[in-house]
Amino acid sequence: MLFSQLENATFLPFASLAALLTATTAEATIPGSGTSGANESLASLKLPPNAQIIDSAKFASLPSVAPPSEYDGNTIWVPPGLTRQQLKDRPFHVYDRDFLDIIGHEPKLTIIAESEKDPLYHEAVVWIPPTNEVFFAQNAGARDAGTGLNKSSIVQRISVAEALEIASGNKTGHVQVHTVKSDPPVINPNGATNYKGNMLFAGEGMGNKTAPALYVVNPRSPYNSTILVNNYYGRQFNSLNDIGINPRNLHIYFTDPLYGYFQNFRPAPVLPVQVYRLNPDTMAVTVVASDFDQVNGIAFSPDGKVVYVTDSGANHGFFPYDGARPATIYRFDVEDDGTFANRKTFAFVDNGIPDGIHCDGKGNIYAGCGDGIHVWNRSGKLLGKIFTDGGAANFQFAGDGRMVICAETRLYFAQIAAKAGPIH
Ligand SMILES: *[C@@H]1O[C@H](CO)[C@@H](O)[C@H](O)[C@H]1NC(C)=O
Ligand SMILES: *[C@@H]1O[C@H](CO)[C@@H](O)[C@H](O)[C@H]1NC(C)=O
Ligand SMILES: *[C@@H]1O[C@H](CO)[C@@H](O)[C@H](O)[C@H]1NC(C)=O
Ligand SMILES: *[C@@H]1O[C@H](CO)[C@@H](O)[C@H](O)[C@H]1NC(C)=O
Ligand SMILES: *[C@@H]1O[C@H](CO)[C@@H](O)[C@H](O)[C@H]1NC(C)=O
Ligand SMILES: *[C@@H]1O[C@H](CO)[C@@H](O)[C@H](O)[C@H]1NC(C)=O
Repeated sequence: MLFSQLENATFLPFASLAALLTATTAEATIPGSGTSGANESLASLKLPPNAQIIDSAKFASLPSVAPPSEYDGNTIWVPPGLTRQQLKDRPFHVYDRDFLDIIGHEPKLTIIAESEKDPLYHEAVVWIPPTNEVFFAQNAGARDAGTGLNKSSIVQRISVAEALEIASGNKTGHVQVHTVKSDPPVINPNGATNYKGNMLFAGEGMGNKTAPALYVVNPRSPYNSTILVNNYYGRQFNSLNDIGINPRNLHIYFTDPLYGYFQNFRPAPVLPVQVYRLNPDTMAVTVVASDFDQVNGIAFSPDGKVVYVTDSGANHGFFPYDGARPATIYRFDVEDDGTFANRKTFAFVDNGIPDGIHCDGKGNIYAGCGDGIHVWNRSGKLLGKIFTDGGAANFQFAGDGRMVICAETRLYFAQIAAKAGPIH
């Protein structure tokens, strides 16, 4: 979940970055190993168009740092020497040379749909290979969506072929966005994933009577659905948020934060904030992780040996953002028996909160954050960002080198070099 749009930029009035922008239209090449400092090697990189370097060494020590009342991590931060427009003009932000392998020679970011205020493009992004369609859900509980207690958010779908035509310039305007009327409807959909040829949605529930649930949804008309699980030994979950499939046992792992309660459409919680596991053979539900503020996205590495879980606790829905709470990604080892071990802090995101999370085919980690998609290598080093100038709650690969990014009122199509992670 992530419902608030980041509206105000923080502009820092320093100009010490003359050498920051070294973008050229040449191909991306990695220079030889003769460079010394990290900033020097970054500065000498040849960048593709649409990319720019953001060099940590250039702002590690600032003449003055904005006080907490002016910058707390929940607005767009503009590094010194740049403008917000410049951040947007070349939206592939290179923090580490290894990002060039991910974005390739000619990365592209295209807006393929837009709405005025309604956060139609929020989460639950799923690509269905046989039909080459991408499904996603509207923001549930956001005030501008008018959803939550009385009206469920909607599921929508687009064609990837049409997105490609628009991105290539062969077609102008926006993709057609179709509303999907699943039957029975997924109530307040938030997260989703592929599951055995179907889609699996996490519904947050509504009020006291509609319990949060996992729904299996047919990705083809008539979009019929089946509720897989909607309780923990008779207790309602709080507001189910997101789902990951462990590639080694194909068990279903899902997260249950309190956002429905924080957005006034679910009652006070009767379960802690936890990560659950459903064994589809026995239909038994167990708990695999707890001790989070607000658990959110979940993603397994391609080999299934590691799992990443986001904690978006800095965001408590309708309560104010609190930068002193987690905006953190944890990493666990996944044991042979499917349980989680060795929790480690993997990353703390510099902007907003980490929401949806996915791995590419090589095991690099991508998360939707306050200013776009952040990408880390397996050691937790920030490699780069795909800057969307506001919250991008979730996204998904739509085949190798293609990505659909939900950024609330904007839907983006990104073309990069990275290959997609496996689908289950
Ligand atoms: C690298 O960073 C250091 C420390 O900020 C600075 O003194 C040096 O001039 C920088 N080098 C380049 C090539 O930007
Ligand atoms: C939900 O419906 C009730 C009763 O009709 C109404 O009072 C309330 O304002 C509605 N809430 C929202 C968020 O639309
Ligand atoms: C765009 O049009 C060109 C010329 O007809 C064609 O070669 C290309 O495949 C088209 N691309 C897409 C994505 O439709
Ligand atoms: C749930 O029911 C309780 C008890 O009637 C009530 O106080 C609460 O407002 C209800 N919450 C929602 C979100 O419907
Ligand atoms: C949809 O309906 C078909 C035909 O009855 C059935 O085989 C399939 O399992 C249903 N799918 C879901 C997800 O409910
Ligand atoms: C991640 O990047 C850092 C800095 O470039 C590097 O030291 C580390 O080895 C990388 N880790 C992996 C798994 O590639």
